[in-house]
Amino acid sequence: MGETNIKETVREKYGQAALRAQSGGSSCCGASTSCGCPDPITSNLYDANQANQIPEEAMLASLGCGNPTALAKLNAGETVLDLGSGGGIDVLLSAKRVGPTGKAYGLDMTDEMLALANENKKKAGAENVEFLRGEIEHIPLPDNSVDVIISNCVINLSADKAQVLREAFRVLKPGGRFAVSDVVTRGEILPEIRESVLLWVGCVAGALDAADYRNKLQAAGFEQVDLEPTRIYRAADAREFLATAGIDADAIAPQVDGKFMSAFVRAVKPAAKE
Ligand SMILES: C[S@@+](CC[C@H](N)C(=O)[O-])C[C@H]1O[C@@H](n2cnc3c(N)ncnc32)[C@H](O)[C@@H]1O
Repeated sequence: MGETNIKETVREKYGQAALRAQSGGSSCCGASTSCGCPDPITSNLYDANQANQIPEEAMLASLGCGNPTALAKLNAGETVLDLGSGGGIDVLLSAKRVGPTGKAYGLDMTDEMLALANENKKKAGAENVEFLRGEIEHIPLPDNSVDVIISNCVINLSADKAQVLREAFRVLKPGGRFAVSDVVTRGEILPEIRESVLLWVGCVAGALDAADYRNKLQAAGFEQVDLEPTRIYRAADAREFLATAGIDADAIAPQVDGKFMSAFVRAVKPAAKE
């Protein structure tokens, strides 16, 4: 599947997810759990303290696989950019952290998600928040303009991750921080998983191998690269995902067990030389 097709499929899928969230339902990173049990990737990511800071609708629209705002260092007055901001949960939480002298941008390519995010911004009464329409491969912000880049389960969806990381590097100020939650893999992954479109839009098939993520960040110019696993998925966790894509989870259990994880990925753009 080419880059344009991936983008269109992702846009369509998340457009539908935004409409579901607006009507009160949500689902995990692309898949839905028919068992009624909590989805292992997206459930229970935020604590009660964070939930109390933002409208319930923003919390319900969460489609991430981590909690970058809990792990990232954010200071008052800083500018934060969330790549693939969805319903706006991490932008609204970041806006609280950077305060009225700071600014939180969300960037998303899906109109329905932007509409949902702007509704949530209104409900939150947030004034230091702006949602931008655009692609994470072509960030509509100037060079050296952002202190911290966050993102939650989005970079794995891009067909050109190296370009996303180069763009992240470009817009960060010298010394700026990359602090992202994403799904990553470790070890060989079966070709039928890598090739599944459904698993791609479900944040699985497009996931980078941890070593590859590290290499791509370094190639973009980043330093102090670190990947910290936050959840490691077992074959049983992947059953629903795989079944949706017509793959028999039990048959391939040994090849998926422990190979997919959510990770917190951090890196720093080198400070300017004196
Ligand atoms: C899995 S959802 C995550 C949303 C949000 N970060 C959260 O935690 O709830 C992925 C989001 O990224 C957006 N997205 C995916 N690929 C993108 C791209 N190449 N450029 C801009 N937005 C993208 C989708 O429209 C969707 O809103």
